[in-house]
Amino acid sequence: MADFKYSYVVCNCRKVTLGEIVHAIKEEGANSIESIGDITDAGTACGCCRSQKDDFGDPKMNLYLEQIVEKFVN
Ligand code: FES
Repeated sequence: MADFKYSYVVCNCRKVTLGEIVHAIKEEGANSIESIGDITDAGTACGCCRSQKDDFGDPKMNLYLEQIVEKFVN
């Protein structure tokens, strides 16, 4: 994840960046994919950005909300 800039768009449907998601976790108390969605709308359309198993797209996405939760929620 170190390779991703905060401007990287994690959720294409809702145009939500990594920076917005990290802010939701660190500053607004989001601690799950669901609460990130409540705050930022990320993952609330097609759902492909939620996790690899939810990603029915082709090509696959490079970064999932699940990975961000694992890294930033303690
Ligand atoms: S890419 Fe996030 S809901 Fe579609």
